[in-house]
Amino acid sequence: MKNGRAEKILVTGANGQLGSVLTRSLQGKYGKEHIIASDLRPAEHFDGIFELIDATDGPNLEEVVRSYGIKQIYHLAAILSANGEKDPLRTWEVNMKAWLNVLEVSRRNGVEKVFFPSSIAVFGESAPRIDTPNNAYLDPATSYGMSKAAGENWGQYYFTQYGLDVRSLRYPGVIGYQSSPGGGTTDYAVEIYHKAVRKEPFRCFLDRNTVLPMIFMDDAIRATLELMDAPRENIKIRTSYNIAGTSFSPSEVVASIREVCPEFEVRYASDYRQDIAAKWPMGIEDTPASRDWGWKPEYDLSKITRVMIQKLEDKYADALLSGPGRIC
Ligand code: NAD
Ligand code: SER
Repeated sequence: MKNGRAEKILVTGANGQLGSVLTRSLQGKYGKEHIIASDLRPAEHFDGIFELIDATDGPNLEEVVRSYGIKQIYHLAAILSANGEKDPLRTWEVNMKAWLNVLEVSRRNGVEKVFFPSSIAVFGESAPRIDTPNNAYLDPATSYGMSKAAGENWGQYYFTQYGLDVRSLRYPGVIGYQSSPGGGTTDYAVEIYHKAVRKEPFRCFLDRNTVLPMIFMDDAIRATLELMDAPRENIKIRTSYNIAGTSFSPSEVVASIREVCPEFEVRYASDYRQDIAAKWPMGIEDTPASRDWGWKPEYDLSKITRVMIQKLEDKYADALLSGPGRIC
């Protein structure tokens, strides 16, 4: 907000799991006319301003930034960890090119603030897996993780060299009822709730005891907005802030679902995503985020399960009404 007027904000990757929810939150906060959503693919059932942008296409991105007079960018477009390993060179190319375009177009066109979503995927085998500190050594084992670690450093570089106000969070796996995940290693923790509510058996691609850091969508969105709203001088870390939500394994989420849906069936059949997960932290430590801008998560596993099941039951209500009734 400047002189009482909301600035124009661009979201890349706005059709994605996080992007679609974040875009609606930004629309609610600043007004639909101030938010320009964009993605590679056209948006379905979207109410607001939308532009088709391939973020790897610098001139296209620059044209949109200039024509709307964009002052903030939330750059969510990326290829995620599991999909990324299917074509690691393309993942690096897309993720890095898109991010460098955003930084450079921002620098050249008076964009004032930029958000970069990093990930627990920046950590590898050298980092402690329990309470991984913000400043742990980064040796990511996936192309996606390498692109996020390099991306964090490029964000810091643009802040230091050009004063561009780049802010970043290392999200854990995001769990929400509002949207579908897009090819990550933590996607199982969203799909599992859909299966439970639809009374279908679930095949889990991770081993039952694989603990990973997770965060509920509402916490992830609130963290993003709180970080972006914090006074500039409070942002002491310009690579990226760890934010913790909660941590659990597939067997723990199954137990929590079975408290509500006792018949829920699960089979474990781990695949290549298990190897990715095995090198990630089990829980991350987020003292710098709490200290600098007051971060505090609100959702633990039991609260996540309660809200996921209730909201997904509502979502599937039409189908349920014509079927056997309430599912769990
Ligand atoms: P997603 O895969 O659901 O969505 C990504 C979106 O980016 C898609 O709509 C896709 O069409 C778009 N996209 C891909 N390449 C593009 C390009 N070249 N130009 C424009 N758009 C492009 O991902 P998400 O879960 O919404 O994640 C958003 C961001 O948050 C990503 O940068 C991701 O790395 C990060 N993140 C997500 C999680 C999570 O658990 N969801 C965790 C950590 C970090
Ligand atoms: N949830 C994301 C993924 O699994 C982490 O960045 O790829």
